[in-house]
Amino acid sequence: MKFLTKTELKEIQSTGGPVLFKHPLTTNFPDRLDKAKILFDKLTVPMFETLNNFEFEDEKGLRIEHWHDEDVPDKIYAHRYGGPAFGYDLDVMVGPKDWEGDSDAKKVGDHVLRRKIYLFDWTRERMADANIKPTAEIEYFLDLLDVVKPILENYNEECLSDQKENVRFYLTKMMLIEYSTPFATDETVVEHRKFNSERFGPSHCDEALLGLHVGESIKEIQTRNHVNGDWTYLPDNDTCLLLFGEDSANSDWNPTYHRMIHNPNDGSSDSRYVILIDYQARYK
Ligand SMILES: [Fe+2]
Repeated sequence: MKFLTKTELKEIQSTGGPVLFKHPLTTNFPDRLDKAKILFDKLTVPMFETLNNFEFEDEKGLRIEHWHDEDVPDKIYAHRYGGPAFGYDLDVMVGPKDWEGDSDAKKVGDHVLRRKIYLFDWTRERMADANIKPTAEIEYFLDLLDVVKPILENYNEECLSDQKENVRFYLTKMMLIEYSTPFATDETVVEHRKFNSERFGPSHCDEALLGLHVGESIKEIQTRNHVNGDWTYLPDNDTCLLLFGEDSANSDWNPTYHRMIHNPNDGSSDSRYVILIDYQARYK
């Protein structure tokens, strides 16, 4: 693929627009969002534990962290699973019904869910060294990671090389994300999906140098033009979005603000899948 030059990227940023290009996954990974669904359908905590059941340096097998939001601990909480191979988070937002009212109010027991799988640039090698075979779907995404990592390395070199001397190491982190509504009925699914997108989707830029957005199964992501403030959807799923993260501002780039806007999707109950790859610096 042809890479954009620093001058071309500066020109795009001077108009406030996001950096979009046709990406190389269209041909070799056309079913990536279906594969993400299959992986989430199969992944259980015991399976996660089996795949992470080995030692690497000071990491020993499964780590579990239960996190609660300080202000609304009964409404926003997460279960986070870590291990030497990869990561798995379940982020819970109580509601939409139980979001209303204080902690003494009568509850119906509903919540919406965001699950995340994190694959790292060390995942394949560590699993191989430990003689643990990745599942076919994990293998698929590790192959995808091998294709996109050089794109991020290229843009890091092109745009952010002035930060190099302050960086201890760079980390490439793939995030597969599923947004689902386990408590919805046919009647409430649109309301639950809307609550999910609104709770998890406020405008932000990523805590990273760069990111690549390489697909969403239901169109909800919008990026903000930082010159005129307009929000736009991505044109299609063959278009890759290069996100400038928070730390790119240290090299005079404008971080790419993005958000999710609920798409009723004809009232479907489909879960939504997103594939993103972050490129982060661990500073000295
Ligand atoms: Fe983001």
